[in-house]
Amino acid sequence: MSTEFHWSRKDLLGIAELEPEEITAVLDAAESFQEVSARAIKKVPTLRGQTVVNLFFEASTRTRSSFEIAQKRLSADGLNFSVSGSSLTKGESLVDTALTLQAMAPDLIVIRHAYPGAPQMLARRLAAGVINAGDGAHEHPTQALLDALTIRERKGRLDGLKVAIIGDIEHCRVVRSNIHLLTKMGSEVVVAGPRTMMPAAIAKLGVTVSYDLDEAIADADVIMMLRIQLERQSKMLFPSTREYFRLFGLTRARLQAAKDDVIIMHPGPMNRGVEIASDVADGSDSVILEQVSNGVAIRMAVLYLLAGVRQAVA
Ligand code: NCD
Repeated sequence: MSTEFHWSRKDLLGIAELEPEEITAVLDAAESFQEVSARAIKKVPTLRGQTVVNLFFEASTRTRSSFEIAQKRLSADGLNFSVSGSSLTKGESLVDTALTLQAMAPDLIVIRHAYPGAPQMLARRLAAGVINAGDGAHEHPTQALLDALTIRERKGRLDGLKVAIIGDIEHCRVVRSNIHLLTKMGSEVVVAGPRTMMPAAIAKLGVTVSYDLDEAIADADVIMMLRIQLERQSKMLFPSTREYFRLFGLTRARLQAAKDDVIIMHPGPMNRGVEIASDVADGSDSVILEQVSNGVAIRMAVLYLLAGVRQAVA
């Protein structure tokens, strides 16, 4: 039962290892933090005296600002440690960085890195709690949690929903975290995209695979559109963006096949006219900006839960 549940993890590295009760605990905590962002003075003393280091080795605008705002609203001391990816030789530099950070005794570290497993490596070496803010094409747990909060708010539940995830399934970390979360919470997940961007083993994660947008979104309660991750593709995997839009772009006309009360999601950054038509992105079914607001509440919840574990062992 969530009322008797106690969070005990030092780190949030992925959704794959979480139990459904842990997912519910983060969503419930986030719901209670949403109220803070609605106040005139958007600050609570919850993490006063705690140091959080934001370690971003990959480009990020919304995730990084979302974590920073969450830290400010909780009165934590946030420090930004930006490193340009090009100056790095993965493993070696990361170990050095970890040791440098250790010497500064931070309480929590938020890390985004192009190398899958980088947050796990830091978590093993450091006493600080580590939050994965995206590791290569592996996981992006706070994104899946904020998506789940948005769906739960709009639909009242996560179980028994049909969720269609469309786009670059192979290279997108958001899809992997979402598949783990949604299947654990009882949603039916359909993934669709071009064959060249569909990993062979994806069906093993308990999802239905489709290569046709119209088939995938038929009777969907939720449609999640993804960006093509050009930066992770070694060669062009589709003929042109125009061709991609014709086959997999979400337009108002195609949306007719989904349920009347379908919601449209996108983790951002969005490519209008490539994966989604502008009028759909800005339309009444779109919850894309709600996802952004919920991101702050989810990051507040995760920082709060992990800091509690740190304080208990300190
Ligand atoms: C996502 C990411 O970085 O994985 N964006 C984000 O967190 N705001 C998705 C993407 O880059 O397409």
